[in-house]
Amino acid sequence: MVNKAQNSANLDSSKAGSLVCVGTGIALAGQITTIAKSHIENADVVFAALPNSIADQWLASLNPNIINLQQFYVDGMPRTECYQNMVNAILTEVRTGKNVVGAFYGHAGVFAWAPHESIRIARSEGYSAYMEPGISAEDCLYADLGIDPGTVGCQAFETSQLLFYKHTVDPASLLILWQIGIAGDHTFTTYDSDINKLELTVQFLNQWYDNDHEVIVYEAPFLPTQTVRMDRIKLKDLAKCKLSMISTLVIPPAKKLELDHETLAMFGLKAADLTSHQEKRTEITEVN
Ligand SMILES: C[S@@+](CC[C@H](N)C(=O)[O-])C[C@H]1O[C@@H](n2cnc3c(N)ncnc32)[C@H](O)[C@@H]1O
Repeated sequence: MVNKAQNSANLDSSKAGSLVCVGTGIALAGQITTIAKSHIENADVVFAALPNSIADQWLASLNPNIINLQQFYVDGMPRTECYQNMVNAILTEVRTGKNVVGAFYGHAGVFAWAPHESIRIARSEGYSAYMEPGISAEDCLYADLGIDPGTVGCQAFETSQLLFYKHTVDPASLLILWQIGIAGDHTFTTYDSDINKLELTVQFLNQWYDNDHEVIVYEAPFLPTQTVRMDRIKLKDLAKCKLSMISTLVIPPAKKLELDHETLAMFGLKAADLTSHQEKRTEITEVN
């Protein structure tokens, strides 16, 4: 058996310094895995990107040697540059021979560039570096909305990337749009919604979804004092809706799955050969 650390670098096992990036989950303290918590407790230094100061305090109770990554967000500086500065800071500590942990809210590897990049560079330099999974906003979404991504399939995009590149949307499956609050931003400097850009986003989505199609604005609570947001609105009302940097848009399917008779024939099957169980799996259950 090769463990993660052994498998994580082009290993010069004598090289001091390591990096483990962990997710801390969304809900405060309760969604972290035992292994992630143990990495944090035993680290020489923990770089933290958590959603609020209460989470920062909780993390400091596990390990007082915290460097808060929020300091790298500078007004007006493109986030791409802020993220690069985070990576540089993390690697500086690894290179001094410390056992470094990057603690990122949610899943450290989901819509998060800095942890992947830090691990990539650390490994290329021969350090042990790997990631432990965490509970992401998407995981919370499936639980809170009662949606199973396996029912009709699921697509997920960063909203501006969907707008700016030629992706293919499948309106028969579930669509999850991350960073809907800053849809249409190309500068990476804004943290606020732009109503005009949201209206253009709605027009773009009209290729597949009617204006009256129901969509869900989802926000999972970070703190026990907060409640889950799952606002069902008509697509046409999206631009009027208050969106933030933590909003995720969920678009249920607009049409039924269609059988692919050609591929069924390749497998020597006809529609009638599909069991009622398989048919049942493609029925979307009403979400809460
Ligand atoms: C940079 S990504 C970070 C995602 C994070 N790594 C995770 O695992 O959930 C930020 C985006 O994640 C989603 N997100 C973050 N926090 C959320 C929350 N509490 N509820 C719903 N979506 C959230 C939003 O789409 C937001 O724009």
